[in-house]
Amino acid sequence: MTEALQVAIDGPASAGKSTVAKLVAKKFGYVYCDTGAMYRAITVAALEAKVDLTDDSAVTNIAQQTLIKFLPGDPVQRVFIGDQEITEAIRQPEITNNVSTVAAIGAVREELVKQQQTIADQGGIVMDGRDIGTTVLPNADVKVFMIASAHERALRRYHENIAKGITTPLDKLQAEIELRDKKDSTRKVSPLKQADDAILLDTTKLNINQVVEAISEIIRKKQDELR
Ligand code: CDP
Ligand code: CDP
Repeated sequence: MTEALQVAIDGPASAGKSTVAKLVAKKFGYVYCDTGAMYRAITVAALEAKVDLTDDSAVTNIAQQTLIKFLPGDPVQRVFIGDQEITEAIRQPEITNNVSTVAAIGAVREELVKQQQTIADQGGIVMDGRDIGTTVLPNADVKVFMIASAHERALRRYHENIAKGITTPLDKLQAEIELRDKKDSTRKVSPLKQADDAILLDTTKLNINQVVEAISEIIRKKQDELR
């Protein structure tokens, strides 16, 4: 029997984490959890409730009271808060530009980390985010820290936007990505950081299939070790 593993994928914005994590999960029959979508969902709920995002306790209340649900969907998982679908809302620029403020609040992270650990208890899991290998699943069987140059990451987001009819200039996208990385890497609680035992994977010159294959190989090797 092959072992069902916990796979943690972390890295900066637009490195390809969620695209690849979802495909890897499908390949191995594991659950996929997009933790970034959870921070984005709380940001949507807080802005809808007209809460001041710098009011830590008000945002924490929202995080504690909001029920986040995922449903399978293609090409992206569907995301809900209660019965309200927010799959598209969580990707709007207003949310992207505010999510790092929400994610820097320690008590919000505490609540979401607890939920993420419960999701991971279900068995084989691929979870992507910023602090999965360091905080959420410190004993994960496989940890990958996925990077790509800021230019390549902005270019990937640019092409994705064009397909959706959004025409934000490339240099603006790159500046936004770099600012969010800076906020995520310098916050006090669980900053974006490569875990000591994570494998660094530079995807700058790799396509999606090549990244999926590289991670699959790491997982298969680990499964063999544990057999
Ligand atoms: O997909 P993209 O790289 O744009 O971001 P995401 O994975 O959806 O995450 C959005 C934001 O949530 C990040 O910029 C972080 O501020 C926060 N986040 C976090 O703090 N910890 C996680 N485990 C996942 C996301
Ligand atoms: O989750 P994260 O923000 O790290 O990135 P993503 O949303 O999965 O990927 C950002 C964009 O890069 C998507 O449009 C992917 O299709 C694309 N991508 C790519 O072109 N080449 C890769 N090796 C990985 C992702």
